[in-house]
Amino acid sequence: MAKQESTELTEAQLAVHWKEEGYYHPSAKFIAQANMTDTDILERFGEKNFPECYKEYADLLTWFVGGKLNACYNCVDRHLPKNRNKTAIHFVPEPEGEPIQHITYQELWVRVNEFAALLREFCGLKRGDRVTLHLPMTAELPITMLACARLGVIHSQVFSGFSGQACGERIADSQSRVLITADSYYRAGKLLDHKKSADIAVETAKAEKAPPERVLVWQRHPGKYSAQTPLVQGRDFVVNDLLPKYRGHRIEPEHMLATDPLFLMYTSGSTGRPKACQHSTGGYLSYVTGTSKYIQDIHPEDVYWCMADIGWITGHSYIVYGPLALAASSVVYEGVPTHPDAGRSWRIAEELGVNIFHTSPTAIRALRRAGEDIPKKYNYHFKHMTTVGEPIEPEVWRWYYNVVGKGEAVIVDTWWQTENGGFLCSTVPALSPMKPGSAGPGLPGIYPVIFDDDGKELSAGAGKAGNVCIRNPWPGLMQTIWGDPDRMTRQYFQRYCKDKDSKDWRDWPYFAGDGAVLAQDGYFRILGRIDDVINVAGHRLGTKELESAALTVPEVAEAAVVPVPDEIKGRVPELYVSLKPGVKASPELSAKIAMAIAEHIGPIAKPNHVWIVPDMPKTRSGKIMRRILTALSTKSDTGDITTLANPEVVEIIRSTVQAGG
Ligand code: WTA
Repeated sequence: MAKQESTELTEAQLAVHWKEEGYYHPSAKFIAQANMTDTDILERFGEKNFPECYKEYADLLTWFVGGKLNACYNCVDRHLPKNRNKTAIHFVPEPEGEPIQHITYQELWVRVNEFAALLREFCGLKRGDRVTLHLPMTAELPITMLACARLGVIHSQVFSGFSGQACGERIADSQSRVLITADSYYRAGKLLDHKKSADIAVETAKAEKAPPERVLVWQRHPGKYSAQTPLVQGRDFVVNDLLPKYRGHRIEPEHMLATDPLFLMYTSGSTGRPKACQHSTGGYLSYVTGTSKYIQDIHPEDVYWCMADIGWITGHSYIVYGPLALAASSVVYEGVPTHPDAGRSWRIAEELGVNIFHTSPTAIRALRRAGEDIPKKYNYHFKHMTTVGEPIEPEVWRWYYNVVGKGEAVIVDTWWQTENGGFLCSTVPALSPMKPGSAGPGLPGIYPVIFDDDGKELSAGAGKAGNVCIRNPWPGLMQTIWGDPDRMTRQYFQRYCKDKDSKDWRDWPYFAGDGAVLAQDGYFRILGRIDDVINVAGHRLGTKELESAALTVPEVAEAAVVPVPDEIKGRVPELYVSLKPGVKASPELSAKIAMAIAEHIGPIAKPNHVWIVPDMPKTRSGKIMRRILTALSTKSDTGDITTLANPEVVEIIRSTVQAGG
């Protein structure tokens, strides 16, 4: 673990000088209907009752004899007796003229069963097999996940905005037997050819000697193939053509062990290649169901809209598994929240009667910029709102509260990670007041702590930033890193473990990789990543991933990525490259390097700028000083550069950046 570099220190210092914000209190109306109003919960989930306290979450699920369960059964079948005719999923297409689909629990059950039959009978998939999903935000995505869960097949959904190549690498790493994709989807007014990515994905997986056996393609418009890219005979199959054969088929849900994996979710870390977090069936589902009930305050009669993409962990836990386990109606919106205009989100909320809303600071900042007062024009009412994914500025929080929430909605700022399955820090909405810019205390049953670099615990109100850790394990924590179990220990548990032979959980705090400050009142303010991860618009990207993509361009000798603050996206990556001898810099070459990154990872990873420089600032031992590059990008003080091996390069880079390239 590298010591914090000066960008982080600056941020930490900044945070500490950030003034303490005042509290906001939940309304009496919210408290009167809330799922959790009993302060005893903190006692029940206190350290002396750990880990038995978590039985309370497990009891929210339906178990088969012998401690077995099925996630699909819990999210669908068990709701049929009471809620058969209730909407499970409202699918909102991006084109506003296209009608919203209201899929009832009964219909969801039928569609999941028929698709599960297809997966089993046509593809021969069975318990423990892996499949990769590269599906956009349509109802077919949760249907596919639930069909896999029904069979005990481990799904690995790759965010649809990721490139075919990124998808292919994940197919190979997980050794998926089948790729499930879609022909097309709407984004910002355009029908995108998505099938194109599947061909690249299969080629990439083939090059890694792990091609999928088959590719299943859902049609965006059933009955009509809407991609330009043709199907590959014998390999690609249109789901909508095959489905009629399975009409009326019903599949018994597999009885899974609580410890059987439910899904894999790839995420970026400090290495060039993303790793797959393996989440369990029982622990994960209990944890997301419990937290959906008590932190999201979901009741069966609620209409719940989480704007995240199901391709991220937020969507898995808090669009699909948590809300559906509680028999809520969950909204799946295909497109961009500001398409065709800034009123779109509020029209959806108004039309569907959404009363719980969940989004990221980036989306809030974008909605605010697109139409400061627009929410007022629409007649919707939220009782509850969530912010997740990045630190939220108090000013943005207040706009969210006053304008989007109309001063009526309680807000939870939930801090957690792909690795965690569900929330770690947040207020319990009816129990504790909100504080703009602070996630709040640990959830019931979660005991967070801040350590300094030497492993000393920083006390509440110390006014110093440190590394946030969780003292205890919890049911939603991933089981392992797929195919690399040692890395799980190295990356998350080694840092602050004082006794490597200990079998006591108290000796193995979970190291999250975020900087944080703990206020006197026990509220955590999360400052951001302290490792090589950049959080761009709430999407997690590894600097090493971007750098290795840049290095695939033959002209590039060295590459370094730095995070730069951005008004909307929180952070954006800027890329510095030096070229091989004899190669000349040109705007075309910069564009080619940016394109290489988009192709390797996806458009979200495209750097804001590609600065071609004669050399990187380096220490005498040859280490690239990213801290200095960050200072140059942000036009701040570079600090002492006299110890560099090549201090003269700093001024040259500065003039490049000042000239704008
Ligand atoms: C950041 C997303 C501040 C944090 C669920 C974490 C946050 C990373 C918050 C995980 C929050 C998430 N306040 N920062 N409420 N929530 N983060 O894996 O840096 O995509 O480590 O999971 O997002 O991102 P991931």
